[in-house]
Amino acid sequence: MTYQLALNWDDFLATYWQKKPVVLRQALAPFVDPLTADELAGMAMEEQIDSRLVSRCHGQWQVAHGPFTSFDELGETDWSLLVQAVDHWHPQAAELMEPFRQLPNWRLDDLMISFSVPGGGVGPHIDQYDVFIIQGMGRRRWRVGDRGQHPQHCPTPGLLQVPEFEPLIDVELEAGDILYIPPGFPHDGYALTPALNYSVGFRAPNQRELFSQLADQLLAQDGGNRRYADPDLTPRSASGCVTSEDVQRLRELMSSLLDDEAFACQLVQSLSEAKHELDLEPVDPPYAEGEILDLVLQDDAVLRLGGLRAFYLQQTPGTCFIHGEQFAVPAGAEALMRQLCDHTRLATGALRTALEEPAALAWFTMLINAGYWYFASDWQAEEAE
Ligand code: SIN
Ligand code: CO
Repeated sequence: MTYQLALNWDDFLATYWQKKPVVLRQALAPFVDPLTADELAGMAMEEQIDSRLVSRCHGQWQVAHGPFTSFDELGETDWSLLVQAVDHWHPQAAELMEPFRQLPNWRLDDLMISFSVPGGGVGPHIDQYDVFIIQGMGRRRWRVGDRGQHPQHCPTPGLLQVPEFEPLIDVELEAGDILYIPPGFPHDGYALTPALNYSVGFRAPNQRELFSQLADQLLAQDGGNRRYADPDLTPRSASGCVTSEDVQRLRELMSSLLDDEAFACQLVQSLSEAKHELDLEPVDPPYAEGEILDLVLQDDAVLRLGGLRAFYLQQTPGTCFIHGEQFAVPAGAEALMRQLCDHTRLATGALRTALEEPAALAWFTMLINAGYWYFASDWQAEEAE
């Protein structure tokens, strides 16, 4: 099913995005859950899928990590099961991310789904990312406080919380409602009835992460060898002083690294890495190019693998970045590459002209055989099994 989001993006971005939390009543109504609580529990039993069970017993918080073998011991209150990156494994659930593609794909992270019984939640906390929390089945009460000093503590390993806060927002969410929370705003949600919640989260690297990436890249490539030089030095009266000009020269030595085109490529390459495992299966035996052309004629659409990150740099159209790898785009395949990176679903009609170019066909065949994109009928066949 495709989800229609009733939201004026221009107004939302100007007023709320990164600025303040907001409740978007019935923005995804009528809401149909893309999965059941049982299906979510089944996913939390899988080795490759990251899941957590957060519970509270006599005021004591507990966290257990999946994969789980059974949920039989759980009572009827005060627990929540959270499963990360469900969009990597569940195409119907991944549809919930589509309305958010008005925002750049590189900022979009994953879809986390939680199932909570009454009283269940993860307690008051702060996230470092923007999140749209969609209410599915059930009802949940959410409180959101203001940004400010909220010292974090760890009531149990694996759970960071903040003290109680004064709420700016105190609401009960029902199916189809969305709560948007920018980074840094404390929030707390507990279920009033058994509830499913879908969190569409965003990425924003911090300076430390970016500089650490740069350092890793320089070490790996033995780069950054230009050394401080001062051929214009004149005698100094204060020999203990490092002048502002000296510091400026040091800064420039460092910042020149950031202007490097190779650095931008490396940066985007790392932004294309997924944080969670993908359901990646190379085609075996691989398709020949002729078979791909037949499939393009027979099938309606090509889909991007759930959670696969694929980007290109505006200033470097001959390169693209897919799942942490850099690819040289063959001449004649640039338009195809942009379509693949811009859309998660591509009608095959839009591909036919592009694939008349032999280099584009060879490249596209490689991407299908790697399992990065697949034909819509493969998914329908799997669904029917
Ligand atoms: C949830 O419990 O579904 C969302 C948790 C959160 O606030 O990050
Ligand atoms: Co949160």
